[in-house]
Amino acid sequence: MTPDLMKAGAQTRVERERRVVPDVLSGGRQASYGRRHEPGSLDLSHGVILYLDDITVSFDGFKALNALNLTIGTGELRCIIGPNGAGKTTLMDVITGKTRPDLGRASFGSTIDLLSLRENEIASIGIGRKFQKPTVFEQLSVFENLELALKADRGVRASMFFRLGGEQLDRIGAMLELIHLKDSAQRNAGLLSHGQKQWLEIGMLLMQDPKLLLLDEPVAGMTDEETERTAELFLSLEGSHSLVVVEHDMKFIGELTQGGRNGKKVTVLHEGSVLAEGSLAEVQANDKVVEVYLGR
Ligand SMILES: Nc1ncnc2c1ncn2[C@@H]1O[C@H](COP(=O)(O)OP(=O)(O)OP(=O)(O)O)[C@@H](O)[C@H]1O
Ligand SMILES: [Mg+2]
Repeated sequence: MTPDLMKAGAQTRVERERRVVPDVLSGGRQASYGRRHEPGSLDLSHGVILYLDDITVSFDGFKALNALNLTIGTGELRCIIGPNGAGKTTLMDVITGKTRPDLGRASFGSTIDLLSLRENEIASIGIGRKFQKPTVFEQLSVFENLELALKADRGVRASMFFRLGGEQLDRIGAMLELIHLKDSAQRNAGLLSHGQKQWLEIGMLLMQDPKLLLLDEPVAGMTDEETERTAELFLSLEGSHSLVVVEHDMKFIGELTQGGRNGKKVTVLHEGSVLAEGSLAEVQANDKVVEVYLGR
C-alpha cells in the first residue's frame, strides 16, 4: 500500500471527529482523482476494498500474524490457503475487529480505518463474516431466518412493528432462489442438511448487503454436490461483492479459481505471513508452498 493511502486511512477517524471532510484521496496533493468524500464513507476509487499493512498479532509472544500484508481488490474473489495454525482465522478476526493487532494498519477502501472501529461498527459498514459452524435459528423457518436478517439493523423494537413490503418480499424471494432453498422456505431451519444451513447463513449475511464477505472454511462437512453448488454461488457473487474465502478443500479452490473472472489470485499463508501469491497453478508449482502445505 502506498504511504499516502495508509496515512489517509489512519487519519480518517481524527478528521471525522473534527467534522472536516478531508481530501484524503490525494493525500494533500492536487491529484486528478481528488474527489471529496463524506467522512467515513467507503472509498473504492482505487479499486481496492481492503488493505492490510504490516499486521502483527501476538499471543503470549507467539506471532499468529507476523507483519502480514494483503490487498483485496473491489469485486475480487480471493482464496486463502495454508496449513493449520498459519493465521487464516486470526486474519479474519483482525478484519472484523474481534482481535486487535499489536502493530500494523487495516483499512476498508482507502479511507476507513478498521482498527478504530468496534466489531458491530465494522459489521454495519459492510463487512460480513461467516464462521465455520452454521448459526441459523433452528426453530424458525428458512423464510423467517432471512426476514430476521433483513430487519437486523432496525433494532428489536422497530423490528417488532416492521411489516415486510413488496420490495422486501421480492428480496427474500430472490435470495431463496440464489441459495437454492426456495422449496424449503417454510421448513424449520433445524431440519435442513448441514450444507443447506451453510447456504442459509450465507443468505442471511447477504440480506444485509455486505460489500466484503469473509468465509472461513465454508464447505467443511459438505457433500461433493453441495461443495460444487457453493462454488457456483460464490462465483455468482464475484464482481458485485468482494469475497475472501479460506479453505483447505483444494478441489473447491480449483472450482473457484477456474470459474468466473480470469486472473484469480490465491494467497498462501504460513506462520502468519504471506508465503506466496499468484494463480493457483503458480502457487501449486512453488517449492516452498509444496514443502509446507500442498506436498503433505
Ligand atoms: N486466542 C488465542 N490465544 C492463543 N493462541 C491463539 C489464539 N488464537 C489463535 N491462536 C494461535 O494462533 C495460530 C494461528 O491460529 P489460526 O486459528 O489463525 O490458524 P488457521 O490458519 O485458521 O488454522 P486452521 O487451518 O487450523 O483453521 C495458532 O497457532 C493458534 O493456536
Ligand atoms: Mg482457521
